[in-house]
Amino acid sequence: MEIIIQPTYAKLVAVSAQIIRDALLKKPNLVLGLATGSTPIGLYEALARMHKIDGLDFSKVTTFNLDEYVGIPSSHPYSYHTFMETHFFSAVNISPENCHIPQSIVVGHEEFCEKYEAAIVNAGGIDIQVLGVGKDGHIGFNEPSSSLGSRTRLKTLTQSTLEANAPHFGGTVDAVPKMAITMGVGTIMEAKQCLLLASGESKAEAIAHAVEGSITAEVPASVLQMHPRTIAVIDEGAASQLKRVDYYKQVYANKQKLLSQEH
Ligand code: F6R
Repeated sequence: MEIIIQPTYAKLVAVSAQIIRDALLKKPNLVLGLATGSTPIGLYEALARMHKIDGLDFSKVTTFNLDEYVGIPSSHPYSYHTFMETHFFSAVNISPENCHIPQSIVVGHEEFCEKYEAAIVNAGGIDIQVLGVGKDGHIGFNEPSSSLGSRTRLKTLTQSTLEANAPHFGGTVDAVPKMAITMGVGTIMEAKQCLLLASGESKAEAIAHAVEGSITAEVPASVLQMHPRTIAVIDEGAASQLKRVDYYKQVYANKQKLLSQEH
């Protein structure tokens, strides 16, 4: 795993937006896997600015979101459909028919999940999968103990996730939907590249385990150690429990130096 440690969230955003921008300039019909949550908001804002100011073109881009709650309408203010529309889709020139988000109803979920997987394959697979990480190490809504080979499916959320998401539902855990449809860990692992973002000390333990701990279903993000092309862009807070911070910084500095000599 390549670990890029940045001093601030703003710098984390700048580095991750640059990675997506470069990929999009190379491949205009990029297939992006997208996450919701607070972590990627700055990334979406930065990409929207690149579109507005530099004309970064999303017209041929296809997207697949990781997950969506079930049991609330997709028009709910805190559904992931609404989140994506608000924070990203409405701010760039992406075609609505190219944007895919899991359904928010339970009826027909098995058939839906199969079709979602097939749609990813038909699109040529995900080029870059943006990921956040839960405090408990979840990716997507793949909670601890999720099969590391799991596919898109209906999943019950843990108490820790319900509590983390309660502020969006009036502050009460009872109001948070208890289930979601999520891409599986195996689905995520098929992305050609993963871009894991984490900010703040509350993510430090999850990042330390994901990057330097043993690979275990108890910390689904740890499976990314087996992914051939995962870049983790994290800030100092999220890096604060890593053992090899100096080495990761040295690796990144050397790479930047080499790249600057090439140009
Ligand atoms: C959301 C998702 C989740 C979040 C994770 C971190 O689509 O896949 O795994 O990435 O819960 O959420 P934040 O960024 O709000 O801390």
